[in-house]
Amino acid sequence: MAETRLTADNLILPVFIKDGISQPEEIGSMPGILRYPPNDHLIKFVDENFNKGITKLVVFGIPSFKDNIASSAFQKDGVIQRSLRLLKQTFGEKIVLIADECTDEYTSHGHCGIVNYRGSNYYIDNDESIKVHAKIALSQAEAGADVIAPSSMMDGVVGAIRKELDDNGFQDTLIMAYSVKYASVFYSPFREAASSAPAFGDRKSYQMDPRNSYEALKEAKLDIEEGADILMVKPAHTYLDVIRLVKDTFSTYPLAAYHVSGEYSMIKAAVKNGWLNERNAVMEITYSIKRAGADLILTYYAPQLAEWIREGT
Ligand code: PBG
Repeated sequence: MAETRLTADNLILPVFIKDGISQPEEIGSMPGILRYPPNDHLIKFVDENFNKGITKLVVFGIPSFKDNIASSAFQKDGVIQRSLRLLKQTFGEKIVLIADECTDEYTSHGHCGIVNYRGSNYYIDNDESIKVHAKIALSQAEAGADVIAPSSMMDGVVGAIRKELDDNGFQDTLIMAYSVKYASVFYSPFREAASSAPAFGDRKSYQMDPRNSYEALKEAKLDIEEGADILMVKPAHTYLDVIRLVKDTFSTYPLAAYHVSGEYSMIKAAVKNGWLNERNAVMEITYSIKRAGADLILTYYAPQLAEWIREGT
């Protein structure tokens, strides 16, 4: 009589890919998660997951250099561009490659846009930022991304990317918008994983206030008007009410929810201490995210979940 079903089809696996390493690297803040070099090691990891039924990946790049304008994010032979090409050549049409589109991993300041100054006060230059975001998105589509996932929360970024893609023959490339992204402490382990912590300031001027829920509807509506194909709420476990609200309001749009790094690492820490049974905790939380209304779940637990689902509970 279970009302909620979960299959490997619902899962999206986040993968960290780092330039300049030859072996996978452990991430201190995220036990069990590795950064992969864009070579055979990456292929092997993706292949293992593919065989478990996980065919959707979201890729994050850690480049070999950073500057003020995120140049390494839109190079033809950048780490993500090379990885997308390699994955597409290897797995073909059956794999769904989602490219996280942001500047924080590629800039020396670590912000999700271009930083400018008024006197000695810095600000994020929204309109300059979206030009760069459109450029990054196009280079990702050219390299083989099936879906572009803008995660910067800049105003107008979805529209700018849609136009850039359409103008260059990528009408079929989808946009999965991080529409409802909270300024959350639960991204901290990711920022170590992707070396993307802001060098100064925080992301509160562009990400949402955790105290707000109806604002999520405004953000989602704008993204839909600008051309988003899939919406996202992030984090997931902490914002189940928001997932439900967005799904009920925009029920004709596929909704993704991101079970983020801090939500992952909290479980890992409790399990390590013997306080929680990992499988039961992860299954309950993931089912809850699905029950709340998510069609797609981005989760670092995707590899284990695929096995647990197959075994049955
Ligand atoms: C931005 C981005 C972040 C995450 C996904 N995309 C970091 C941020 O906004 O600071 C966080 C994901 C996670 O915590 O697992 N490129």
